[in-house]
Amino acid sequence: MAKTWSAKAYAAPTATSSLAATTIARREPSEGDVHIEILFCGICHSDLHTVRNEWKSVMPTVYPCVPGHEIVGRVTRVGSAVTRFKPGDLAAVGCMVDADRTCTECQAGLEQFCPNMTLTYNSPDKHVGGVTYGGYSEGIVVDERFVLRVPSKLNLAGVAPLLCAGITTYSPMRHWGVTKGKKVGVVGLGGLGHMAVKIAHALGAHVVVFTTSTGKKEDALRLGADEVVISRHSDEMKKQAGSFDFIIDAVSADHDINAYIELLRRDGTITLVGAPEQPLRVPAFSLIVGRRSLSGSPIGGIPETQEMLDFCGAQNITADVEIIPIQKVNEAYDRLLKSDVKYRFSIDMTSLTSQ
Ligand SMILES: NC(=O)c1ccc[n+]([C@@H]2O[C@H](COP(=O)([O-])OP(=O)(O)OC[C@H]3O[C@@H](n4cnc5c(N)ncnc54)[C@H](OP(=O)(O)O)[C@@H]3O)[C@@H](O)[C@H]2O)c1
Ligand SMILES: [Zn+2]
Ligand SMILES: [Zn+2]
Repeated sequence: MAKTWSAKAYAAPTATSSLAATTIARREPSEGDVHIEILFCGICHSDLHTVRNEWKSVMPTVYPCVPGHEIVGRVTRVGSAVTRFKPGDLAAVGCMVDADRTCTECQAGLEQFCPNMTLTYNSPDKHVGGVTYGGYSEGIVVDERFVLRVPSKLNLAGVAPLLCAGITTYSPMRHWGVTKGKKVGVVGLGGLGHMAVKIAHALGAHVVVFTTSTGKKEDALRLGADEVVISRHSDEMKKQAGSFDFIIDAVSADHDINAYIELLRRDGTITLVGAPEQPLRVPAFSLIVGRRSLSGSPIGGIPETQEMLDFCGAQNITADVEIIPIQKVNEAYDRLLKSDVKYRFSIDMTSLTSQ
C-alpha cells in the first residue's frame, strides 16, 4: 500500500446521517501523480443519490462516503514523470481517476466504458485500500492522465460543474449530432439541464426546455432556450408532439418519460442522463410508432472532457453557481431535492481548511 498523508474532508458516515468534518488518507504522489489543492467542488445530484445509497442495486455505497466529482484546483506537487502539469497550474478532475488503459474502450479514449474504470469516489482504491474519496476535501492525488487542463480566464467556481454536468450533457449531444437546424429538448432545468441548454444553444440548435417549475421560465430563456414548456400543462405539451430530433432527459426523480417519447419525430432519440432510483415505465408502441430510440449516456471520456472544457473556454460557458462554504453542504442537499438552486452549488473548498 502507498505511503499516505492526512487530508481534511467532509464525509457521510451512513446513508441516513448528515455529512460532517473528518480526515481521510490520501496517497503521497508517485512518479505519474499530480497533487491538487482543491479550490471548488460542485454538488452533483449523483453525490446525493450516492450518499443516501439510492443506487444500492447497481452501485452500493461504502461508508464513510466522501462525494464530489466536479473538482477544480491548483497543482501543488507533481511526480518526477509528470510532463503536462507543474506546481501553480490550474487543474481539474471529473468523475473518473483511473482505468486499465489497455482495453479497447481506453484505447479509443472512451474510459467511461472501461470495465476496470475507477470512479472518483466509491470505487475500490488500489493505492490506499478501501474506496476512493472525492472532492469534498482539501486536496486530491490523481494520475496525470486523468487530470484536465482548465481554460484560462473562466470563473473557477463556475468551471467546477463542467467536470460532470458539462461533459454529461456535451457528450450525448455530440454523439447524436446536435447541430444548427436540429430541434433539441431539455427535460429538467437543474445542474445538468442548465448546462445542456447552454451547450445546445452554443452548438446552434433550437432549444426547448421542459420544466415543472414555472418560476424558471425567464431563466431558461436567458440561458439560451428558444422556447419553454411547463411540463404539467398538457396543452403546451401537445403542441410539441412529434417534432424533436433529440431530447436529453436530466430529471433526478420518478417521472412520466412517455410524455417526452411522444414528442420525438420519426427516428428521433431521447437520451437518459438523469438516473432516478426507480425504473421508468416505457410503452412499446411509443417507440415502435415513429421508429424512435430510447438511450442513455454516462459522463464522457478524458479526451472528450478536455474538448468540452476547451469548447466552453472558447464560448465563454460556465455553470451558473451559488457558492457555499462546506459547512452548508447538508442544507444544500435539502435544497437540491426541492430544485431550489440556480443552478449548481459550488463549494468554496478553502472553507474547509479555515474551519
Ligand atoms: N448519466 C450520467 O453520467 C450522470 C451524470 C451526472 C448526473 N446524473 C444524474 O442526472 C440527474 C440530474 O442531476 P442534476 O445534478 O442535474 O440534478 P438537479 O440539479 O437536482 O436537477 C434535477 C432537475 O430535475 C427536475 N425534477 C426534480 N424532481 C422532479 C420530479 N419529481 N418530476 C419532474 N422533474 C423533476 C427539476 O427540474 P425542473 O425544476 O426544471 O422541473 C430539477 O431541477 C441525477 O439523477 C443525477 O444522478 C447522471
Ligand atoms: Zn455528477
Ligand atoms: Zn479500459
